[in-house]
Amino acid sequence: MEIDKGLGEIERMARSITGSKDISFSDIIGQSRAMIGAIDFAQKIAPTDAVVALRGDSGTGKELFARAIHEASGRSGSFVAINCAALPEQLLESELFGYVDGAFTGGCKGGKPGLFERTEQGTLFLDEIAEMPMPSQAKILRALQGRRVRRIGGAREIPYDARLITATNRDLEALVKKKAFRSDLYYRINVLPIHIPPLTQRRDDIPLLVEHFLFHLSSRLGRSARCLSPQAMEKMIHYPWPGNIRELKHVVERAHILCETEEIGEQAILFGSQTEEWITGCRVPQSGSGNTPLRVQMDIHERRILVHALKDAASIREAARRLGISHPTVLAKMKKHDIRMVRNITDGRTSDKAKINI
Ligand SMILES: Nc1ncnc2c1ncn2[C@@H]1O[C@H](COP(=O)(O)OP(=O)(O)OP(=O)(O)O)[C@@H](O)[C@H]1O
Ligand SMILES: [Mg+2]
Repeated sequence: MEIDKGLGEIERMARSITGSKDISFSDIIGQSRAMIGAIDFAQKIAPTDAVVALRGDSGTGKELFARAIHEASGRSGSFVAINCAALPEQLLESELFGYVDGAFTGGCKGGKPGLFERTEQGTLFLDEIAEMPMPSQAKILRALQGRRVRRIGGAREIPYDARLITATNRDLEALVKKKAFRSDLYYRINVLPIHIPPLTQRRDDIPLLVEHFLFHLSSRLGRSARCLSPQAMEKMIHYPWPGNIRELKHVVERAHILCETEEIGEQAILFGSQTEEWITGCRVPQSGSGNTPLRVQMDIHERRILVHALKDAASIREAARRLGISHPTVLAKMKKHDIRMVRNITDGRTSDKAKINI
């Protein structure tokens, strides 16, 4: 029952992913030397079948690269992403490898093929691979070495034709040293690593990114193009950007909402805790007032509800239960709204009840 419910959720997530607009290398903004190097390398290896390891801090664009590589690969199948951190071990494995009839109580009658089998001629994106449980790591290694998978409970080895792209923001080398990540899998997936530099190492790209996001926001809202004042741009260029491009995108979006004038001033550029004041305080546009589109107002309220639930609950899972939505949905919404949890270590135990970074 649990398994089926989980699989349905994943399928919905996978569908929303494969159904979204195709991303190509032209959607990756960046002219700094570090970015040009990463883009050139990614373009070179895109048409091959090689496993790719995307490395980079949170919000640097790993998924964007993965999609662009798929688009340029010439593969006729779809791009399917799975977040290895969002599912418990059994569910992750049944999703990846599938299962035979009778493998689980509540499983589909007749069994079910996994994503390896179903991503025919496509790209399977294993996001946050460092969070994959050790036993599943061993199974992924087997699948990669033999280019065959065995469904859970089954004996038959089934060939697959998916290209694998992995991503992580963790220090895989340190995890291997600590024996928290299998070294044999590390060597197998890290053949073609692409390091996406953090935004602080490519500050030259900040004006380009700001312009890109402003242009898209304006055209989406049917307004004329807007720009940042020189002081606002200075503020953007000198900020440390812990959340990288995702954070920059949200800062630009908020500034766009807060400032009505054609030139956006520095008072509308809000970072970190200033944002908390903004979402919980009176600066939120009143429902139905002004020219703020409904979608934007809904986003603001969704973010506020999420922050309050996460602050009150003992864990992300508990917040999900209280809100009546699934754990992966909360994780996806946290990403969308750039809400990060800073883990507390108390009595040697890690807890999710933590300070929220917004
Ligand atoms: N170079 C870029 N040009 C334009 N948009 C970008 C660029 N890099 C990232 N983005 C945008 O920033 C957001 C975050 O990117 P993405 O989800 O690919 O990051 P990530 O590295 O996968 O992050 P995480 O580790 O948190 O999963 C997305 O909306 C993406 O479209
Ligand atoms: Mg990602």
